[in-house]
Amino acid sequence: EARRPLVAGNWKMNGLRSSIQTVEAVRDGLTPALLDKIDVLICPPATLIASCVAAVAGTPIAIGGQNLHARPSGAFTGSISAEMLADLGARYVILGHSERRAYHHETDNGVHAKALGARRAGLCGIICVGETEDEREEGRTLDIVRAQLGLGVPKGATAEDTVIAYEPVWAIGTGHTPSTADIAEVHASLRDMLGTMVGPEEAQKIRILYGGSVKPKNARELMAVKDVDGALVGGASLVAEDFLGICAAY
Ligand code: G3H
Repeated sequence: EARRPLVAGNWKMNGLRSSIQTVEAVRDGLTPALLDKIDVLICPPATLIASCVAAVAGTPIAIGGQNLHARPSGAFTGSISAEMLADLGARYVILGHSERRAYHHETDNGVHAKALGARRAGLCGIICVGETEDEREEGRTLDIVRAQLGLGVPKGATAEDTVIAYEPVWAIGTGHTPSTADIAEVHASLRDMLGTMVGPEEAQKIRILYGGSVKPKNARELMAVKDVDGALVGGASLVAEDFLGICAAY
C-alpha cells in the first residue's frame, strides 16, 4: 500500500495576521484532484494557528505547530503544550527541528519526551533529523541520523502519530541539496532503522519527508526519490505560489 505524500510548510518565525492571505491563497489554489492525492500542512507561528485553522475550515488542509512543551500544563512560562495546540485545532507538530536543536539546546531525549506529549494529545509529531556539513564530510551522516531517530522516536510509534523529516542542516535555507542518490541512501537507512524499532510493517507506513531548499524547480526530482514521502518546506512555504508549485510536483 502506497504511502500518502505529505507536503508541509514550516513558516518558522515569520508571519503577522496579514499572512493569513497566504493560507487563503494556498487553500484557493489547491485543486480537489491534488488534495485527493496528497496531504497538505501549514505550520505557522503559534500566534497564527487559530486564524489559520479558521481559514482552512471545511478543507482537508491541516495546520500544525512548530514546537511544544512535553508537559500538559504547569509553571513553564512562555511554553505551549500539545493539549493547547490540539485545542486550537492543530493536527501536527514539528519536533526537534535543527534550529531548535542549535538555538534552544534541544536533545534527542527532549525530542522523545515531546513526541510522547504530542501522542498524548492526539497530535502527529514530525520528528526532524539531519547531519551538519562537518558530519557529512566526516562520513558520519548515517550514524548521526540513525542515532537521532533511535533516541527521538518513542516505542510504539505508528504512521498515525509519527512522521520523520530528514533535513540536512547544511541544506536548510542555502539553496544546496544532497544528490538524489544521497537522499535515497539516508531515507532507506532511516526506514530500515524504523523497521527495527516498530516492525517492518509499520515502518513501511511511516512517512519520511525530505527538507532543505525544496523549491518548485527541484520538487519533482526530489519527491520522486525512493522512500521520499513528501517535503518539509521552509522559505518557499512563505509564498503561496511557490508552495503550490511544490504541491504540484505530485
Ligand atoms: O523546516 C524546514 C526546513 O528547515 C527547510 O527550510 O526550505 O528554507 O531550506 P528551507
